[in-house]
Amino acid sequence: MITLGIETSCDETALALLESRMGPKQRRAYVGDFECRIVNSLVHSQAALHSAYGGVFPTLAKREHGKNLVPLLNKLLSGSPVPYRATLEPRDIAATALALEDEIARQNPDLFETFIHAEFLKQVPAIDRIAVTEGPGLEPTLWVGINFARLLGLLWHLPVVPVNHMEGHIVGSLLDPDASFGSWQRLQTLRLPAIALLISGGHTELVRIDGIGRYHIIGQTKDDAVGEAFDKVARLLGLPYPGGPHIARLSHEAAMEQISSEVRLPRPMIKSSDLDFSFSGLKTAVLYAIRAHATPDGSLSETFKKGLAREFERAVADTLDSKLRAGIEKTRARTVIVGGGVSANETLRARFEKTAKEYRTHIYLPSRHISGDNALMIALVAALDASPIKPGGRELKAEGTKRLGIPAPPI
Ligand code: KG4
Ligand code: ZN
Repeated sequence: MITLGIETSCDETALALLESRMGPKQRRAYVGDFECRIVNSLVHSQAALHSAYGGVFPTLAKREHGKNLVPLLNKLLSGSPVPYRATLEPRDIAATALALEDEIARQNPDLFETFIHAEFLKQVPAIDRIAVTEGPGLEPTLWVGINFARLLGLLWHLPVVPVNHMEGHIVGSLLDPDASFGSWQRLQTLRLPAIALLISGGHTELVRIDGIGRYHIIGQTKDDAVGEAFDKVARLLGLPYPGGPHIARLSHEAAMEQISSEVRLPRPMIKSSDLDFSFSGLKTAVLYAIRAHATPDGSLSETFKKGLAREFERAVADTLDSKLRAGIEKTRARTVIVGGGVSANETLRARFEKTAKEYRTHIYLPSRHISGDNALMIALVAALDASPIKPGGRELKAEGTKRLGIPAPPI
């Protein structure tokens, strides 16, 4: 089975093709004899465009997705060894566009325009289903991906599977980090019970995993997400968006130059007995530290900035790690999965790996190309769900605040 993944939940326009096969009677919840191979995966980041605004500007992101999706699909297909199964007439594209014009043309004019003129869409690739992110994320940008999936589903007569972005971050971390594009791989063994620590720009969650597709949120942030805290602190230090990699670089320089911080930051909620997080107090503490150490013209020394970045990263590491430990103990997890953009951070990765070793749990961290937003993880979620779906069979609707599973009863 070949799945086309579409991801537009934030500021990355991403498309991927994933081929998969699984045991004869297999449905969900077991990944034992599931095999897959990455046919192709492309991510077009808009980060440079949004940098000027200090964060993602939804209207701009929506327009960019609309402009980028069709050319990106052309690039994806022309760079993939996927055969074509049929050739359509140009009027088929026009008929599809007409059928959805009322719903899409005004909402996503850029997408609609490029779709109408995309001659390459006449060649129907031998793919079996389309997977698209339905949430959580920015609703206007989610709709662009969904509308694109609807147009393609109708034109190529394919089922469209709505996917939860956070489930994508979970299963994406199960991909074999050593497998190259094109080679068949098995997913990492998911020994249950398992726990996922999801750390991204919009989410900070601890999730108990009872099987693929069976999730319960057991801890979450009460205010800012951890990636958001990285981005806000970077902004306070005059660094561009997205700030996480810049903070990480400064922190690394502090370590190399043996700079210790002049300030000590709080470790929020580290002593609370629940599994929840809070990062807004930490961000405010950074603001006060900056005010206290800035020169009258508002500038900061490079040494101070590096030391502060290191201390901030350590405070985040201590906080996340203490909750991860509590989560492992409460769920008796045998597997730990870390997912989301912030899991690219080397200091955090090293800390989580050390903890997993101490608890003798398996730990799966996403490889570079899968830690940030991508469409491969979206295709993988749909590929793991082998239940039959007819074209036009599932309702498609953007859900900005879509949650993963249901909150678990207290443990
Ligand atoms: O998962 P993701 O790509 O998008 C969302 O779904 O939010 O996560 C993006 C977040 C941003 O806040 C970015 O600053 C952060 O991931 N990030 C990092 C690093 N690389 C990306 N944070 C800390 N250290 C990094 N190396
Ligand atoms: Zn994400």
